[in-house]
Amino acid sequence: MALTCFFFAIAVATTDSANAQQTTGNTARGETFFTSTYKCYACHGFDAQTGARRLKPMRYTEAAFTTFVQNSPLAQMPAYPDVAADDLADIYSYILSIPIDAPAIDEIPLLKEIRDATLKSLAQ
Ligand code: HEC
Repeated sequence: MALTCFFFAIAVATTDSANAQQTTGNTARGETFFTSTYKCYACHGFDAQTGARRLKPMRYTEAAFTTFVQNSPLAQMPAYPDVAADDLADIYSYILSIPIDAPAIDEIPLLKEIRDATLKSLAQ
């Protein structure tokens, strides 16, 4: 069971989670905010997946993302109470637009083989 969950996690890790697809933001403005105005990239990486905490795949809805960034309770993540929700929607839109670097499981032959064998044995 744990193994199935593991493979499921890998299988979905190359796309943003299903509830993170809706955005009202402006991607181009979001890029400026992310890389210049608020410098999120300094900790999260220009691709949002090489920094302190990966932001891809995105696992928040736009509303949850906004609430989190404005009120971050985490010690190492600054809160941005003064950044307007509209600006955060733009940042969110930009993060969603960034392609995920990790290859799909089907592109890694050994991993694909292990997954397929595991799923087959579980189905018996
Ligand atoms: C000073 C470094 C720093 C900056 C600047 C920064 N972050 Fe973070 N952020 C972090 C760290 C570190 C974490 C993970 C904290 C933890 O898990 O304890 C985090 C976590 C997050 C998370 C939660 C990720 C998750 O999967 O739970 C989001 C969303 C986020 N940051 C967005 C942003 C945005 C948007 C900006 C720019 C407006 C930004 N951050 C700027 C350091 C930073």
